[in-house]
Amino acid sequence: MLIFLETDRLTLRRFTEADEDNLVELDGDPEVMRFLSGGRPTPREEVRSRILPALFRQYGQGPDFGFWAAEEKSTGRFLGWFHFRPYKNGPRDGDIELGYRLRRSAWGRGYATEGSRALIHKGFTDLGVERVVAETMTANTASRRVLEKAGLTLVRTFHREGLDAVEGSEHGVVEYALIKADWKPELEEL
Ligand SMILES: CC(C)(COP(=O)(O)OP(=O)(O)OC[C@H]1O[C@@H](n2cnc3c(N)ncnc32)[C@H](O)[C@@H]1OP(=O)(O)O)[C@@H](O)C(=O)NCCC(=O)NCCS
Repeated sequence: MLIFLETDRLTLRRFTEADEDNLVELDGDPEVMRFLSGGRPTPREEVRSRILPALFRQYGQGPDFGFWAAEEKSTGRFLGWFHFRPYKNGPRDGDIELGYRLRRSAWGRGYATEGSRALIHKGFTDLGVERVVAETMTANTASRRVLEKAGLTLVRTFHREGLDAVEGSEHGVVEYALIKADWKPELEEL
């Protein structure tokens, strides 16, 4: 197992071929996909032929950024994933994009916040990151709350094509960011 990061309760590790079922199950929950696809599950074929290969390609570009499978340390259970990767839609070179998707049974226990804070800490202290950004649907209150608890602040609200099937899409997408100079590691203790 290739471990990228450990927190008090989580192990973040590289994905492997053996995670196909985990990803199919995660994306098979309409509640998980509510603000991503409007609830539509990701077909197994797409996980196998598009998603997993894309994750592996990213690992080939270096050890520091990518998608990390999250496991609960106490049980070894697959909880979902975090990503911390070059921000493709971003206006600035070098921005790193934070994201997460967890199984419903793992929600509400602070896991998304714990993983996000740990990634931000590693990014600013070990990986030379200067700015962390994130996007979510304006209506995705839980995700916005995680970003705020991790220290990011709202940059802008904008509209993106192709999201009509997603609940609340009329309210658009929000972009959040945190620059290294504004980072307060003591937030991690709260
Ligand atoms: C977003 C997500 C990762 C949050 O995971 P989590 O581990 O439950 O998050 P945390 O427990 O760290 O924090 C969630 C916060 O949102 C709050 N919250 C959750 N649902 C909420 C809601 N419907 N309205 C208001 N606040 C809400 C929680 O109370 C908590 O804040 P608090 O600590 O101040 O009470 C999880 O809900 C998820 O995987 N959702 C589906 C995928 C998704 O939408 N990913 C984000 C796409 S950008």
